Amino acid sequence: MSYSDQFLSAIGVKSKKGLSSFAKLSGVPFNRLKYYNDNNILPSGKDLQLIIKAAEISELILKLKMGRLDIETLEFIQSHAVEISSLIEDSKSLSKNSGFDSCELALKTRLGKLYQGDCLNFFKIIKNDSVDLVFADPPFNLSKLYPSEIDDNLKTENYLKWCQIWIYECIRVLKPGGALFIWNLPKWNAVLTNYLESYLTFRHWIGVDIKYSLPISGRLYPSHYSLLYYVKGEKPNTFHPDRLPMHICPKCFGDLKDYGGYKDKMNPKGVNLTDVWTDIPPVRHAKYKRRNRANELSIKLLDRIIEMASNEGDLVLDPFGGSGTTYMAAELKKRKWIGCEIGPVDEIVGRFNLKTEERAILKSYREKLNALFPESVKINREKRGLWTCESVREREKTELVF
Ligand SMILES: C[S@@+](CC[C@H](N)C(=O)[O-])C[C@H]1O[C@@H](n2cnc3c(N)ncnc32)[C@H](O)[C@@H]1O
Repeated sequence: MSYSDQFLSAIGVKSKKGLSSFAKLSGVPFNRLKYYNDNNILPSGKDLQLIIKAAEISELILKLKMGRLDIETLEFIQSHAVEISSLIEDSKSLSKNSGFDSCELALKTRLGKLYQGDCLNFFKIIKNDSVDLVFADPPFNLSKLYPSEIDDNLKTENYLKWCQIWIYECIRVLKPGGALFIWNLPKWNAVLTNYLESYLTFRHWIGVDIKYSLPISGRLYPSHYSLLYYVKGEKPNTFHPDRLPMHICPKCFGDLKDYGGYKDKMNPKGVNLTDVWTDIPPVRHAKYKRRNRANELSIKLLDRIIEMASNEGDLVLDPFGGSGTTYMAAELKKRKWIGCEIGPVDEIVGRFNLKTEERAILKSYREKLNALFPESVKINREKRGLWTCESVREREKTELVF
């Protein structure tokens, strides 16, 4: 997974042999030139001077050819927008693809519709400004084998270009005030924010603590997924985050964390949800896993997102169905839903026969929310003489009397 040879083309090199000659000519080591090319990184300092001299190009041409534009260059483009836009429009109309491939309705439930096909075709049937919440968990371009056999090893700029296309569609169909959540590796979401910022208002980068790869020497152990949260327009139409229970020891039920020492200030409804989520389980256990070969997310994650950013009766859209976690969560939470999956959909369809089981899983998660001490914990703390919200209030009352 690397970029196409944009750096090589900018310096006029066509082959590995050509790069060796260029290394000798410029005095910049071969491996460093290769690094600039594979990562589409602009050279700087001495390397920059040596490279532009040997290639006989300006720094600006190098930036333009590599598609790395700084604010100064963008300002120039802005001030020549009319001339430049006509050049771009001409080239776009030449490359326009007029083909229309349909996507098929694969499942209809009381509240939702699942289509099978490419999401870019699926989006053609969705009206502007019609969706309350979009959640998207695209492939991560990690050379994974999906049941759909999609190409998960695109050149970096092609993957990002594809992401921009479906993100544009997500934004188009969102209602003003609607919310967009994108689940991806930090590496990709860090770049995609730049595009999202053009259209939407940033709310949060939520770090969801789940280890997603093995430790790699010389690197930190990758331990969080990025969940981007944006809203169309200034403010969200809906925002009611769950509150979480206090961290307590599962054996002795004692406090595990100091929340500032003010027990009387703790909200009995629970602790504020932060932008770091540490309680979302990976879906590994066969009992919970609905699909053998793809990245299935925990229904707990979708429960939290749907609860936070939509109301009953709202419309939730997910363009990358996978095992249908979003659709199941939406259906159980009485939201309308619509979605699409390019690969086989039988597992999503089959999943809707397990609604009772899924409802029980969701219920077990929800029982532990929106209370500082869920009922079973409260009983155990009382038994052990540990403080509860009620005992703190009682003590306060007594102290006031005396
Ligand atoms: C990471 S998985 C989604 C998993 C899902 N969130 C879940 O919890 O089960 C991404 C899915 O997107 C599907 N996909 C990839 N490209 C697609 C496209 N162009 N249109 C629709 N679905 C696509 C893949 O087949 C895969 O099932």
